Amino acid sequence: MKIQILGSAAGGGFPQWNCNCDNCTGVRNGTLNAKPRTQSSIAVSSNGVDWVLFNASPDIRAQLADFAPMQPARAKRDTGIGAIVLMDSQIDHTTGLLMLREGCPHEVWCTDMVYQDLTTGFPVFNMLEHWNGGLNRMQIPVDESVNRFTIDCAPGLEFIAVPLRSSAPPYSPHRNDPHPGDNIGMLIRDTGNGKSLFYAPGLGRIESHLPNIMSEADCLLVDGTLWRDDEMIHAGVGDKLGVHMGHLSQTGEGSDEEGMIAFLDTLEKPRKVLIHINNTNPILIEDSPERAELARHDIEVAYDGMSIEL
Ligand code: MLT
Ligand code: MN
Ligand code: ZN
Repeated sequence: MKIQILGSAAGGGFPQWNCNCDNCTGVRNGTLNAKPRTQSSIAVSSNGVDWVLFNASPDIRAQLADFAPMQPARAKRDTGIGAIVLMDSQIDHTTGLLMLREGCPHEVWCTDMVYQDLTTGFPVFNMLEHWNGGLNRMQIPVDESVNRFTIDCAPGLEFIAVPLRSSAPPYSPHRNDPHPGDNIGMLIRDTGNGKSLFYAPGLGRIESHLPNIMSEADCLLVDGTLWRDDEMIHAGVGDKLGVHMGHLSQTGEGSDEEGMIAFLDTLEKPRKVLIHINNTNPILIEDSPERAELARHDIEVAYDGMSIEL
């Protein structure tokens, strides 16, 4: 299986257009050793020709332009995107659907909860009905017994949705009433060689079903939003804690929780890669002590253009 990191930043990207925090200023001025990053999205393929897009970020136009296989040019109008899978209904993961309107109809996989948000609070499914049939919605099951599914354009891959507890976005009709399927992780398995990827750009808590799933995966591509829980407050750019946004910080500092690093340390098999990095996070600086700390724990930081093959 081929995995392409199209975007590795959290909502807002890096640098964020209106942000003058130390990180955003430094990368903008070229005074920090850090790479700019677009908003989180990956593409996965079994044959390198037909791709499943995971999340459609507001930066999708540039992301597709930067990855040649996404334009196979077999016809006057063409794309390498065979299907789209949504992990949640957040702006940074769904707004790109609007940019893809010229290619409708698209096959879009999402849970019932995400579908509800995207037909009410942010009605992108309804809006795109006016473009050549719009979005052909496919249901991602989150019921424990039937959560395995396949996608026609990706023979050789199977998908298992893993519900992750989180809050729906501010525009969701069930914002204050969490349901399974508001946010999911995905286990993607190559049925040919048995290798698997666990992808979860929003992972707020190590719930009891996760250690088994994550310890068996060959590669983890998981929530790297924050270094410490109260980081946005420290950086003077917000008042939200990671725990309230559904993001487990790397160190857990500023909260009562143990952090992502401590949990990843308990897993032996998988390659460990962080994605969905917020622009305030010191791990974005390649020569920072925090980045060195990750390296000591064999944890990598995803960047735009990174390829992983399993
Ligand atoms: C999040 O995951 O919390 C988002 O990045 C928020 C957003 O896009 O506004
Ligand atoms: Mn996000
Ligand atoms: Zn910033």
